[in-house]
Amino acid sequence: MMTAFVRRSGAALWLGLGLSLLLPAQAAEALPEIFVGADLALGERLIREHRCAECHVRRVGGDGSAIYRPQGRITTPGTLRGMVEQCNTELNLGLFPEEVSAIAAVLHRDHYRAGWRQAARPASR
Ligand code: HEC
Repeated sequence: MMTAFVRRSGAALWLGLGLSLLLPAQAAEALPEIFVGADLALGERLIREHRCAECHVRRVGGDGSAIYRPQGRITTPGTLRGMVEQCNTELNLGLFPEEVSAIAAVLHRDHYRAGWRQAARPASR
């Protein structure tokens, strides 16, 4: 009798735990694997600190964000992260891998995600 009760409430606990794990996972579904867990606040800070925009402005004007072209050669989260890694090397920024990921995740969120979604929609082709 007692064991049956314990077993049943145990099942409810597992069910609850399962649901609470499932829901955030679904909400984050659209996020590419390599950006899961990326520290977006860190990425934003590094983009400011390394003055990425200032140099891009000299090239494309405006606020510099026109340099980010989701319809250009950067077409996947992997190539985006690779590009940031390349800048890291060329500009000698000395960023750690997780810092490169954080920056790429912010650029993805702000400049590439929407454009890539559009490109993936067959109707817009
Ligand atoms: C000294 C100038 C300079 C600095 C500093 C700089 N960039 Fe760039 N970046 C460029 C230029 C120039 C291009 C365009 C290269 C091309 O199109 O061939 C570019 C292109 C890029 C692209 C590719 C855009 C696309 O969609 O094709 C990314 C991503 C990027 N930069 C990220 C960064 C980040 C992040 C930083 C700061 C950590 C940074 N850049 C700092 C000059 C700079």
